[in-house]
Amino acid sequence: MDANFEAKLARNENIEPKDWMPDIYRKHLIRQVSQHAHSEIIGMLPEGNWITRAPSLRAKMVLIAKVQDEGGHGLYLYTAAESLNISREELLEQLHTGKAKYSSIFNYPTLTWADIGAIGWLVDGAAIMNQVMLQRTSYGPYARAMVRICKEESFHQRQGYEITCKLAAGTKEQKEMAQDALNRFWWPTLMMFGPPDAASSNSENAIKWKIKRESNDQLRQRFVNQTVPQAELIGLTIPDKNLEWNEAKKGYDFSDPDWKEFNNVIHGNGPCNRERLGARVKAHENGRWVREAAIAYAEKRKQKAAAYQ
Ligand code: 3HC
Repeated sequence: MDANFEAKLARNENIEPKDWMPDIYRKHLIRQVSQHAHSEIIGMLPEGNWITRAPSLRAKMVLIAKVQDEGGHGLYLYTAAESLNISREELLEQLHTGKAKYSSIFNYPTLTWADIGAIGWLVDGAAIMNQVMLQRTSYGPYARAMVRICKEESFHQRQGYEITCKLAAGTKEQKEMAQDALNRFWWPTLMMFGPPDAASSNSENAIKWKIKRESNDQLRQRFVNQTVPQAELIGLTIPDKNLEWNEAKKGYDFSDPDWKEFNNVIHGNGPCNRERLGARVKAHENGRWVREAAIAYAEKRKQKAAAYQ
């Protein structure tokens, strides 16, 4: 292990692409950053499904902007991953062949407009909880990408909470829709933080190398503490009979999600895994001519420039 690498970590300085780093640190980051990038672009799919069905022009414009932001997050993160010496093509190949994981949450269907509210409120809310700490992650390009992403995610969280608030204050049927979306998305959202600390195989190294600053369980607890009052404020009920304020720990006690279901989903057997991957591969194929045309255009300009020299 290089003393300079250890010293930089100890001083809380970022490791930059040109710095020496252990291969195992580089591989760990490629895994996490690319999984994160894949989550951003796969995450466009369940919400993208609702753009044509948004209930107003305003709602449609906001949703388009949000889905577009997620595409941008994917680009920042793929670029950060590429700085670790792996090509975009290789990363996408890993996604398209099912070798690389992406967030479990996007393998659940979006059945009603209330789901778009639940995704923004809960899913983006959970994503921010995790990403705020990643602004201080040890790898420079990843940390800097997270600063911008976090700003945009905050807007996404508010967009989702606004939809849910409106439905919760609406007719009986609208409130029921909001409650149903909360019931379906609550448990998969808790799973987003990853397995319990005791079962988290990557956490030890991640904490040691300051890639992760907090553990899966710590972040999950903070998310529950923050979200329960938001649900109460608008008259919705978190679907957990064991949810109870624990004064001693100054946080809520809550039930475990179904970890068997989680394992199924991350191994490709969730309700929408095949559909999501199929849609992604199709989009990639449909975009092939654009990539080829862009490369051909750049090549032509290079040749033209050379001819004038
Ligand atoms: N979905 C899919 N796979 C998951 C997962 C999840 N929610 N949680 C854990 N896993 C996988 C891990 O990738 C690991 O598999 P691997 O060893 O084959 O790669 C295995 O389960 C064991 O989990 P660990 O706790 O050991 O893994 P990590 O230490 O990497 O922790 C993590 C998992 C907390 C998700 C961490 O990787 C992380 O912080 N990643 C960056 C944030 C991220 O990827 N967020 C995606 C959320 S969606 C999003 O941001 C889009 C937004 O627009 C909503």
